Amino acid sequence: MEIRFSDSDPLGLECEALVVGAFSGEGMERDLVRRLDEVLDGLLSERAENGSFKGEEGSSLLLHRPAGVAARRLLLAGLGEEEHASDESVRRLGGMASRRLKDEGCSVVHVVLPRDRTAPGSVRACVEGFLLGPGGLGAYKTGEGSAKEDPYRGPCEGLVLVLPGEAEEEQREAALEGEVAGEAMILTRRLVNTPGNRMTPLVLGREAREACRETGVGTEILTGGQLEERGFGALMAVSRGSSQPPCFIIMRYLPEDDGEAARPPLVLVGKGITFDTGGISIKPNRGMEEMKADMAGGAAVIGAMTAIGRLKPPRPVIGLVPASENMPGGAALKPGDVIESCSGKTIEVLNTDAEGRLILADALAYAVEQDPEGIVDIATLTGACVVALGRVYAGVMGSRQGWVDRVRETAAERGEKVWPLPMDREYDSLVESDIADVRNTGKDQPGAITAAKLLEMFVSDRPWAHMDIAGMAWRKEGSAWVGEGPTGFGVRTLVGLALRETLLPEG
Ligand code: BES
Ligand code: ZN
Ligand code: ZN
Repeated sequence: MEIRFSDSDPLGLECEALVVGAFSGEGMERDLVRRLDEVLDGLLSERAENGSFKGEEGSSLLLHRPAGVAARRLLLAGLGEEEHASDESVRRLGGMASRRLKDEGCSVVHVVLPRDRTAPGSVRACVEGFLLGPGGLGAYKTGEGSAKEDPYRGPCEGLVLVLPGEAEEEQREAALEGEVAGEAMILTRRLVNTPGNRMTPLVLGREAREACRETGVGTEILTGGQLEERGFGALMAVSRGSSQPPCFIIMRYLPEDDGEAARPPLVLVGKGITFDTGGISIKPNRGMEEMKADMAGGAAVIGAMTAIGRLKPPRPVIGLVPASENMPGGAALKPGDVIESCSGKTIEVLNTDAEGRLILADALAYAVEQDPEGIVDIATLTGACVVALGRVYAGVMGSRQGWVDRVRETAAERGEKVWPLPMDREYDSLVESDIADVRNTGKDQPGAITAAKLLEMFVSDRPWAHMDIAGMAWRKEGSAWVGEGPTGFGVRTLVGLALRETLLPEG
């Protein structure tokens, strides 16, 4: 997609579509909206009075050939109350623009950034929103006009951001970052949306390799004997119930500068269960189809690595995705089995549906061997995290407060909501096993913390943070600014972390 800037007067801009954000209440009276109201002969105040368009969040008003405006279409996008405005409002403005105009056949859309919302963070958010607006419903329908190569790619080819003055370097950089992150999220969403029969572990590996190749990120995909040689016992044990072979996807980004390349890497780890039936501890039928999204953490890492390859941060970044199905075949793991992970530690498997933490145990042990400055894993790990935080916040837990705080700060800057859960030592006993080094389900209720406590056993003394995105990877319903289904959650935080000057706070 082509992104440009313009400092022309919005009213005089000859273009296919002009998008203007309108705040509700007092805010609607302001500046550009008031000027528009004047040239439109009071139409907007009339609409506000009769209640048909009051600038409420998610509402919109599309006018064709508006009088007194050079644009062929004028879209007013409701942003809600101005006092609650944030970069998220601008992200929503971008999303509404691409969603509402998608059937209009516009190839280039002009969006006026709201007053006071032109800082680099807002510019980035607007571009991200514009790219994330389109949804992927009907991706596999056949027939006239329905073959969609990439269901999340919007129909518009260009976005012009309209600012009061000439764009500064920081704003241009932010637009590029927004574009790259948005594109990465489109990739992640497509991978997550792909049904389990089409998205097997090896397909995920192939997709990762193809996507990374274009961005100069190296990939290595370990399969069969290679997994055995390296002792990926937990990954192999989880995949044993499936006829689809597992794989371990390794993606490496190395900066060109020798000094930068010599720094310790940031390691990103994503759960890549391409379908989770629960295995022998089988899940109930209701809603099981959502378990095609159980590789959303892995897909977020793949998306983030492509963005990292394009944005070239000044440190090496390694992405790791253990990929497997979790099926109840004849050779499947059974409750009570004891398996050996890549670190040599043994795990008692009490519930085969707690499989994510098993494959992550192998991947985290591998991450530690890379001598990382910091590790972040991201996984649709527990229903308990959804109970704790709902579908508003992802959970974050970890081994070192400074590092967990960094992840939180970065997520907040990038507009992704994550909230910490405690990891005090009193919780250690949750995963104590009588027969092995650790057990894979807890003795008590706090399921999200239990899972994190198992992972903690495999990160040695490294700074490590774990994001549980079980409630965030899949959105049941779309809204005025974003489509339903996969969200691409996590990509922006992972990319943001890679781009930070320093990872760990001093000391
Ligand atoms: N993939 C699921 C977690 C999940 C639940 C993701 C809902 C997305 C939405 C995970 O593998 C799982 O099944 N966890 C179990 C653990 C339990 C058996 C200890 C759970 O949360 O019920
Ligand atoms: Zn499971
Ligand atoms: Zn799972």
